[in-house]
Amino acid sequence: MMVDGHLFLKAMEKKARLLAPAARSTFQANEALCSWLLNPLARWAHGAYGDRAFEDAARGYAQYCMGVARSQQVYEKAGSYASVELPELISEVYEDASYMVPYMWAAILIYAFWPSMVNHLALYRDEFLGALNPGANVLELASGHGILGLLAAEERADIKVEGVDISPPAVAVANRLLAMSGHEGRVSFAIKDALEIGPGDCRGRYNGIIAAMLAEHLQEPALLFQVISHLLADDGVVFFSTAIESAQRDHIYEFNEESEPLRMAEEAGLRVTRLVSDAGLTAHAVRFLPRATAMLLRRR
Ligand SMILES: C[S@@+](CC[C@H](N)C(=O)[O-])C[C@H]1O[C@@H](n2cnc3c(N)ncnc32)[C@H](O)[C@@H]1O
Repeated sequence: MMVDGHLFLKAMEKKARLLAPAARSTFQANEALCSWLLNPLARWAHGAYGDRAFEDAARGYAQYCMGVARSQQVYEKAGSYASVELPELISEVYEDASYMVPYMWAAILIYAFWPSMVNHLALYRDEFLGALNPGANVLELASGHGILGLLAAEERADIKVEGVDISPPAVAVANRLLAMSGHEGRVSFAIKDALEIGPGDCRGRYNGIIAAMLAEHLQEPALLFQVISHLLADDGVVFFSTAIESAQRDHIYEFNEESEPLRMAEEAGLRVTRLVSDAGLTAHAVRFLPRATAMLLRRR
């Protein structure tokens, strides 16, 4: 059996049939880029989880998309994100493997199946990874499934990546994929709250920082930019992304405008050098337009 990204698409036809045509068309329109993600992912996932990896991933993706659609409907009516207490979120989402593992599959697949996220992947590969200094030390905050860090190591044989995430089951997934990737000497994943890093002795320690789809999970995302600013080397580069007007069970900070995270970054002493922001597909006029925004940041 040829183990490559097409196995995810095949599994979608079985386990996420209604969503499969849109996923396939995003994949086909961006085949080289999506394969850059899905081909190594297929090898690592198959090595770590066996044949069931593909159908599990497709099922996780379907479950996640249904949850997102439901949350967005409730949000449209209510006018704001549902309020969730952080301790509840930690015990019911981040610490719960039965929720987190399917969610992590979906969090990976949206980069290849959602048009708005494909643009993040392009920015990440072509501009962020390309801009890292030789031998860069990279920190990935909220590494989740670990795929962004692992792809960084796959693309750049000269860099080191340290990933941290608050969720034990997510870190377990990342470590299983890492064990299959051949990058164990240069990549590590640990359980840690991203906001608890620094302000110890790490000032300026990282040439690259990844903080993808984390800010909307925090009560005070401004603190994240302070952590990033503290840890970033003078010539370092940051890949930051977040969700805007996108309700989800674990989204607790509601951004309504691109200028909000941008301003937070600037107030922490960072400069935005690139920004992409794309809306999801919406068939009719809505009060809230879900978008995904990604930025490259440098020190001012
Ligand atoms: C949507 S996933 C993003 C995963 C990955 N960065 C990506 O782009 O697909 C959100 C991740 O944030 C993690 N997370 C939430 N709050 C966190 C915190 N305070 N510190 C570290 N990780 C956190 C969750 O456990 C989850 O893995």
